[in-house]
Amino acid sequence: MKIGIIGVGYVGSTLCYSLICNKLVDEIYIYDINEKFLLAQKLDLEQGTPLLEHITKVKMTNLDEIKECDIVVNTASAKVLSPDRIMELKENRKIVKEIFKNFSDYKGIIINISNPCDIISYLIAEETKLPLNRIIGSGTLLDSVRLKLTISNYYNLDSKNVSALVIGEHGTSQVLVYSNCTYKNDSLSNYLKNNNLSFNKQALDAEVRKAGSNIFGVKNRTEYGIASCVTYIIKQIIEDKETTLPLSTPYYFKNKLIYISKLARFNKNGYLDDVKMHLNKEEIDLFNKSCERIFEIMYEEE
Ligand SMILES: NC(=O)c1ccc[n+]([C@@H]2O[C@H](COP(=O)([O-])OP(=O)(O)OC[C@H]3O[C@@H](n4cnc5c(N)ncnc54)[C@H](O)[C@@H]3O)[C@@H](O)[C@H]2O)c1
Repeated sequence: MKIGIIGVGYVGSTLCYSLICNKLVDEIYIYDINEKFLLAQKLDLEQGTPLLEHITKVKMTNLDEIKECDIVVNTASAKVLSPDRIMELKENRKIVKEIFKNFSDYKGIIINISNPCDIISYLIAEETKLPLNRIIGSGTLLDSVRLKLTISNYYNLDSKNVSALVIGEHGTSQVLVYSNCTYKNDSLSNYLKNNNLSFNKQALDAEVRKAGSNIFGVKNRTEYGIASCVTYIIKQIIEDKETTLPLSTPYYFKNKLIYISKLARFNKNGYLDDVKMHLNKEEIDLFNKSCERIFEIMYEEE
């Protein structure tokens, strides 16, 4: 299987390195508009491979040839200046339209990471006119991982036994679905009650919502978390495992198409369908508000 990465800045290059270290593919094709930087990244990534058991070739490519890849990951963006993902829309809209304008004959799967993730995923769908199941945004997978970690750190639980779900916008209106959180085989709320622990949603909420901006505030970027998330998605596709994850996928809101994260089933052919989420009334309302926010930004930006 061939993987292509568009944009080899912090996120694209870290994803490339993660794929190399996870020995997932033999060849990775990289493209960036900045040719000198692309070459430097290729050489640096390549020099990281000779001592590994599995050699992955890193090849520079262009936007035509990258279409031969089975999966193309988009990380191209203008310089990220703020943790507010919506601030990136103006520039990234132009970038993504330029990149994907000749992709209507592409046969593989596109995974979008660039922010604002849901809207950029939608714009790729609009530009390419490809079947919607072949365009996926990494969405709230990273936010779900952050909630999982926050719960395990807060209650001192092994994160392997905690499952957590965040849906909605990969942004400020994301919905932390506490009713779906579990510890071992029990709901998190039951576990906490049985152990006389209070379910401190306010503290968890505050921690998760600022997880990205706390890192960005110091480093002016975040790359490892997202690279691991997308490595995981790619691994499931390569191994042809049917998997359910919170990913940004097509959704009709007020009869118009948007992209938003919900529990999505996917396999090597892309997004298959949604898995029913058992949400309570408050979570349903928040999910609808999140749809409304994406809808408003998308259609008012036009
Ligand atoms: N979805 C998530 O969970 C998540 C997490 C972290 C970062 N991000 C997003 O990922 C994107 C990339 O972040 P980064 O830190 O790697 O930024 P970066 O500035 O380090 O890298 C962006 C790269 O895109 C390249 N580029 C710009 N225009 C291009 C074009 N037309 N064609 C090809 N390449 C082009 C740039 O030259 C640069 O190398 C941002 O939008 C960021 O917000 C998303």
